[in-house]
Amino acid sequence: MAEVVIVPDAAAAGSVVADAIVALIERRPDAVLGLATGSTPLTTYRALETRIHAESIDVSRVRGFALDEYVGLPVDHPESYHSVIHREVVEPLGLDPARINVPNGDPSGILTSGDEYEAAILAAGGVDLQILGIGTTGHIGFNEPGSSLASTTRWKTLTEQTRRDNARFFDSIDQVPTHCITQGLGTIMRARHLVLLAFGEGKAAALADALEGPVSASHPGSAVQLHPHVTVVVDEAAASKL
Ligand code: GLP
Repeated sequence: MAEVVIVPDAAAAGSVVADAIVALIERRPDAVLGLATGSTPLTTYRALETRIHAESIDVSRVRGFALDEYVGLPVDHPESYHSVIHREVVEPLGLDPARINVPNGDPSGILTSGDEYEAAILAAGGVDLQILGIGTTGHIGFNEPGSSLASTTRWKTLTEQTRRDNARFFDSIDQVPTHCITQGLGTIMRARHLVLLAFGEGKAAALADALEGPVSASHPGSAVQLHPHVTVVVDEAAASKL
């Protein structure tokens, strides 16, 4: 069973997770972080930013791998995960951009980008700490329901629900890409420590399915039940169906 930490709010979660990440970096200055996008991890990134600057923590050797990317958005589109990771994480935390990787969402890479990303993670020695959010469909990364528990980085089709959920970042749902490239559930399971975050009532059902439902490709988040080291940091509302 995962360790479940219930905190008052997202800000408190951010400081708990930032503590864990700072401890990791102090132990291992070239730590490999698994980076998630979406709104959920933002308090973690802001708490980390504060601590790194206040304590002059050396992050020059920290490495990172993003979970996923839209397919077909230009890399410099403000909502590409490449842009988001650089805007929300790399620049404010002062990480070395050369050490931060985001899957290649260029359509020309359909046959190769997934394997290349897997090879890069392997070459880095694997991910030490993977930050995860969860979608209302139960997805982690962009592994929508039906994703194989053994899957590796590959293209996926986004569900209508996920496109609707993410339309808030775009002018309209028509602009939300239909496809993505995402680390697989198998990839995520190889990270040494998973930190799953969820806030608000809207995540309660997906979180309960992930932590207490049957392990099934229908609930991709349930794959975390197979992982030996999972920390779940949630508010009361997200924990309300546990
Ligand atoms: C996004 C990302 C996921 C994220 C999830 C939840 O689309 N691909 O990595 O965890 O959906 O998003 P949010 O944190 O904004 O609720």
